Amino acid sequence: MRTITWNTADQCLSYIDQTRLPAEQVTVETQSVARLADGIRRLEARGAPALGVAGGYGVALSCLTHQNKETVTAFRDAVETDAALLRQTRPTAVNLGWGIDRVLRTALQEDTPATAFDAALREAQAIEAEDIALCHQIGAYGGALLPDTCTVLTHCNAGALACVEWGTALGVIRSAVEKGKKVSVISCETRPLNQGSRLTAFELHADGIPVRVIPDSAAAHLMQRGMIDAVVVGADRITPDAVFNKIGTYMHAICAHHHSIPFYVAAPYSTLDMTRKGMDVEIEERGRDELGFCGNRQLMPDDVETINPAFDATPLTLVTAIITDRGIFRYPYDELTHSDTGDAI
Ligand code: MRU
Repeated sequence: MRTITWNTADQCLSYIDQTRLPAEQVTVETQSVARLADGIRRLEARGAPALGVAGGYGVALSCLTHQNKETVTAFRDAVETDAALLRQTRPTAVNLGWGIDRVLRTALQEDTPATAFDAALREAQAIEAEDIALCHQIGAYGGALLPDTCTVLTHCNAGALACVEWGTALGVIRSAVEKGKKVSVISCETRPLNQGSRLTAFELHADGIPVRVIPDSAAAHLMQRGMIDAVVVGADRITPDAVFNKIGTYMHAICAHHHSIPFYVAAPYSTLDMTRKGMDVEIEERGRDELGFCGNRQLMPDDVETINPAFDATPLTLVTAIITDRGIFRYPYDELTHSDTGDAI
């Protein structure tokens, strides 16, 4: 099943509600841009590549919603307003804005609302189809890097649920397993929203790939005991100096470096953002309740404040290789800024 797709029969967007996993498997069907924006903010739909697809379909939904505007100018203004609403839902993942802009550009070239909707939908569907192909390409390149028998640590969820299917970091693992390698996965639970225990463990277990969940704070200990052969994570944005991924990734990279364990980042080429330095990237800050409560259970005293960044920046000096659909880029990453193809092609 696809994480996110267009429902042609009902002319609406359909995606898995990831806030309900693993207990319930519920699909959201919506024609509302506001509903989608809220769902993205609450991480019903999440993960960088899936956000690119969601953003693209969000623009298509907007075109559908505003079919009856009196003028083409009014139609375009309304779609641009919706695109801005979607764009600000999650500021760190580059793919969200990338997907929105790509479909918006296509739609705004059209002369009528009707043709704009058709073109927007086609473009969003192209992004969805491309994502599947890209993940398999990333998997093929990255799977070859893993030893025949190994234990891989991953953080957050960079799997099928973060994409359309297959995944980036988990795509690397799936492709290696498909080639007959014996890969066992250590999934960091990924506090505070537990994408590692709720989502990564869910999808790997469903596929029959051995997976064990650890507290985030156990990663260094396992590395010290020789229990981890490689780290593979996804990315929300890659700048010329850093990889942005789920908070805690930087900590794993430092530990992996200390223990001489390869640290790989798997991401589509569209996650690269060579236009800015890491320090200029906005890090999403999330609400107090994510730390203050576990369900209904209160975890900290009233009125105590929190710091809850959703992402951190891992310097490229700590990254052994970046696995993309255009090949593998390696430290010191000169090719990243000078060429759009890596060295595995
Ligand atoms: O806050 P999330 O769950 O959207 O964060 C997701 C991650 O950090 C993933 O590792 C990243 O988006 C890569 S997904 C292929």
